[in-house]
Amino acid sequence: MKCRVWQFRTEQIVQYLYFNSLVSLSLSRSILAWFFRLLPVVLFFICYYCSQFYFESYGGSGKSPEPTVSVCHNFRLQRKWGSLKLNMSRKTELFLKLEDFFWREHLSAEALPYGIKGSELLLLKVLAVISSYTMPANIESSLDCRTCAVIGNGFSIKNTSLGEIINKYDVVIRVNDAPVRGYEEDVGNKTTLRLFYPESASFNPNIHNDPDTLLVLVPFKQQDLRWLKEILYNEKRVRKGFWKPPPQIWLGRTSQIRILDPYFLRLTASKLLQIPLQPHRQQKPIHPTTGILAIFVALNYCDVVHVAGFGYPESRNQKQPIHYYGKETMKSMKNSYHDLSQEGQVLKRLEDQGAILYLHPHS
Ligand SMILES: *[C@@H]1O[C@H](CO)[C@@H](O)[C@H](O)[C@H]1NC(C)=O
Ligand SMILES: *[C@@H]1O[C@H](CO)[C@@H](O)[C@H](O)[C@H]1NC(C)=O
Ligand SMILES: *[C@@H]1O[C@H](CO)[C@@H](O)[C@H](O)[C@H]1NC(C)=O
Repeated sequence: MKCRVWQFRTEQIVQYLYFNSLVSLSLSRSILAWFFRLLPVVLFFICYYCSQFYFESYGGSGKSPEPTVSVCHNFRLQRKWGSLKLNMSRKTELFLKLEDFFWREHLSAEALPYGIKGSELLLLKVLAVISSYTMPANIESSLDCRTCAVIGNGFSIKNTSLGEIINKYDVVIRVNDAPVRGYEEDVGNKTTLRLFYPESASFNPNIHNDPDTLLVLVPFKQQDLRWLKEILYNEKRVRKGFWKPPPQIWLGRTSQIRILDPYFLRLTASKLLQIPLQPHRQQKPIHPTTGILAIFVALNYCDVVHVAGFGYPESRNQKQPIHYYGKETMKSMKNSYHDLSQEGQVLKRLEDQGAILYLHPHS
């Protein structure tokens, strides 16, 4: 249907040019010569526009889109961010820095997970040891257009053979303890950022990450920062306050660690998901999943955001596995602090608005 519109418009253009050429013939031969010189340029732009259209119109059938230069057209990217109607600017500084505490008073109205109020001293100690707060230089400065793939842990990525395509993105973001080794064919083996919290940390991050992967702690509570501090300073571990025992030994390198600015979780909750930041006392608190947080971070940091492995099976099918690895089923999500149906609707909206693009067909 859209293609026909295209043909029609192309015909119109050609007819128009043809008509023009008749006029110019009667006017002068040199103008005619100019027309033929310009024709290839016009055709080039038509083809270019067509190819843009092809990428935009990918709807889950046929070949997966790839992170090529043509997907990276500035005009479209700005439109994507604008289409979210979040009334905010893109924030591309992702991590907390020590300077934040020295040079200006860090005014945070909220406590973790949405602000740092009350956690300043813990952060100060942790950030003093980390001492590097930026993205790798090759990603930060030299790209006019950053393409990002956010890889969720969902079952839907199984058997997609997307590995090779995923590895081509400038930035590949993964979440929690999702494995890579043994699943390369479907999920690739490149990891630029891995978002995690203590309960979802693996004790040896070297197995399923690259040597230069940034391991980005998402602090949900003070204990999460304390866990990192105890590891960095090799202090006695306090085990209380976690819903699942986090690793007591952690073999990641200090230079790989970053701490995500709570700004991103706050805005994922308040703007994207519209969760009340302070629930009523009797209500169970709801927090965004690390997956949707990763997509929000990517929307801030990247020009192109493609996703794979998102979505949960229908909740009535309790036996369906939820991850591309392991045996967890929907049953295990029953008591989680997440609102999965709300997140599903938001993902759908982001897709409909063209802010994110799925790399595989999905329901
Ligand atoms: C958008 O942000 C501006 C400035 O922060 C504010 O004045 C305005 O009310 C906001 N609009 C909406 C629709 O939230
Ligand atoms: C994936 O492919 C394997 C081997 O072809 C097959 O046994 C399995 O059922 C497939 N899984 C899914 C979820 O399609
Ligand atoms: C990913 O796999 C490719 C091909 O198997 C290999 O050449 C490359 O070194 C791997 N990269 C990482 C970071 O493991």
